[in-house]
Formats: sequence, structure tokens, C-alpha cells
Amino acid sequence: MKALVLAGGRGTRLRPLTHTSAKQLVPVANKPVLYYGLEAIRDAGITSVGIIIGDTGADIREAVGDGSQFGLDVTYIPQEAPLGLAHCVLIAQEFLGQEPFVMYLGDNFLVGGISGLVDAFRVGGYDAQILLTKVDEPQFFGVAELGPQNEIIALQEKPAHPRSDLAIVGVYSFSPAIHEAVRAIKPSARGELEITEAIQWLIENGYSVHSHMVTGYWKDTGRLKDILECNRIVLELIEPDVRGTVDGLSEITGRVILEPGAVVENSILRGPIVVGADTKVTSSYIGPFTSIGSNCLLQNSEIEYSIVLDGSSVHGVSRLAHSLIGRNVEVSCAAGVPNTHQLMVGDHSQIQVRA
Ligand code: TTP
Repeated sequence: MKALVLAGGRGTRLRPLTHTSAKQLVPVANKPVLYYGLEAIRDAGITSVGIIIGDTGADIREAVGDGSQFGLDVTYIPQEAPLGLAHCVLIAQEFLGQEPFVMYLGDNFLVGGISGLVDAFRVGGYDAQILLTKVDEPQFFGVAELGPQNEIIALQEKPAHPRSDLAIVGVYSFSPAIHEAVRAIKPSARGELEITEAIQWLIENGYSVHSHMVTGYWKDTGRLKDILECNRIVLELIEPDVRGTVDGLSEITGRVILEPGAVVENSILRGPIVVGADTKVTSSYIGPFTSIGSNCLLQNSEIEYSIVLDGSSVHGVSRLAHSLIGRNVEVSCAAGVPNTHQLMVGDHSQIQVRA
């Protein structure tokens, strides 16, 4: 069995971060979201992995390399443009050959791994297995309509009027029958070869398509609120590990990871929190569910329920919450200019200031 990991795409919902980096590399508890998926694939006993890459392919190649750091053997498959999930299968045909495979969306996060799902697929001998979970906003997902015996009746891609609240989770298992399906379908109204249509084709042509309800936690991290929520879930599970230094004026409660070289002075840290290597925190408060990257500086500031990427600094700002701050960003207070917000932000940024 092989795996096909999708790490191309546009990432429009995470601009401006995706102008300069791959969304699959946004860190969750200071580890790129893609790494969790690669580890789950390895833990399911799969070693041969094809990774679809697009404009941000150089970043993905640099982060994942030949895959040996994960115990994987990785082949990169460049995609000329984000032409759809089924297009990814189409261009990976040579790599996949006649083997069954797991297709894993590189920005998806599944607590509990995929070993059970892969075993169920192997034992069941299906042509396709999809995972379903109930969601609040099915219009943003591929949606499945089930019959009385839980058989799949129809699949819809991001429907304006969803026929159920069962979203298709971004981990699929396929037999080689999918190759015929992706060749048979035509691009959708949004110009993409949709995997939902390819699976619908399998159903209509008599292939066995099985659905499996996901009981554990799953998130598509394509949107800010989902990344923050995912970060919360992972931080809920961390074990404290203080390898940085904390002075006597500071107070640390709850589960906190301080990576080597991190320095905390005159500050309050309430876990769960992770603070990256060589980051300095002075006269500040860090509240629960916050991940601060490496080489950051936090001074006279307060922050909680947020993610800060490497090399950024926050000076004299209270209080940041529900925020995602990119790499090498400076956030500071506009000293001497009362009631003024001074901004220099990239294209497609989102800023919410205090009312
Ligand atoms: P999506 O999140 O559906 O698409 P996107 O990355 O274009 O994001 P947005 O809607 O914010 O513009 O993609 C799911 C995953 O599959 C993600 O990891 C990107 C990847 N992908 C490809 O590799 N190639 C593609 O053609 C598409 C559509 C997605």
C-alpha cells in the first residue's frame, strides 16, 4: 500500500501566510501540520509516499527532504496548477501503479492516526473508503448523503444546499479502480477535477464504496479558526518539559514546554503553552493554548489562544488573542501617538483592532 499526500493548492483562505509559505507547514504546537499526517502514514505501516507539490514545492521539499526523518521514502510529484483533488490522482498514476493507496490532504489533522482506517480498508477489500464526520457548516465541505443501511447514495462538493451534515474527511483509501474514475470525469464548474465526482462515478459504475464515521477529532486546518482550534487540541495533550530557563520572578502554571535556549523573565505563563528555542519572554503574560515559535521576543505584552511563528516580536501589546502571526513579524505599540493604530501589513491580511 502506498500513500499520496496533497501539499499543493492555493491556500487562499490563509493569505497572507500562503503568499510566502505552504499552508501545510503552518505549525501546530510548533510542528508543521503536514508532519502529523506523515507520522500517521508511517505509523500505519506505509513507507512509500508521493507528495503533490505546487507553487510552494520548494518549502515542502526543504521541510520533508527524502522522508528519511520520518522513516518514509518520499517521491515529489509537481502539479502545474491546483486543478483539483482528482487531478492529483491523475498525475500520480505512474507513482501509484496498480497498488491500493491512502490519499491524505496535507492540511488535515486527525487525532488517533489512520492505522485503524487503513486496516479496515485492507480487510474490507473495497474500491474506495471515505471517512465522514458531522460538521456545523457542511456547505464548505464535500458532503455525503447516506441511505437507510448507511450506504452512500450521493456525494456533493461544497453544495449550496447540503443534503446532510456529514462532511467527507480528507483521508481516502482507494483501489486502482480510482484511476479509471479520474479519467472519466470532467472538470466541475469551478474548473477542478473533483474527487467527490470520481467517487460518485465509482458508485454509479458498480464499484464498492464504503463509508466510515470518524469518532475522533478531525480538522481541516485551511482556516484561521480551525488552526487555532487544532493547536488547542494538540496542546491539551502535551507533557510539561522545561528545558529553557525561568527566573525567580516568573510564575509557571499548567503544562508548559520551554524548548532549549528559551528564557522567561518576570513573566506569567499559564499552560498549556509551547515556547520555541531561543525565544525570550520578558515582563509578559502568556495564556493557555498559545504556541510561540523559536527566536521570538515577547516584551511587556499579553497573548493567549494564539500562534506566533519563528522570528517574530511583540512589544508592549496587550492583549493579543485568537491571532496567527507569521514569520519575522513585528507587533508593537505606537508609542506617543494615543488612540492610533499604525499598520504596515501585507496583501490579504486580516486585522481586528479593539473597538
Ligand atoms: P483545499 O484546502 O481544498 O484547497 P486550497 O489549498 O486551494 O485552499 P483554499 O480553498 O484556501 O484556496 O485543498 C486540500 C489539500 O489538497 C491542501 O493540502 C492542498 C491540496 N491540493 C493540492 O495539492 N492540489 C489541488 O489541486 C488542490 C485543489 C488541493
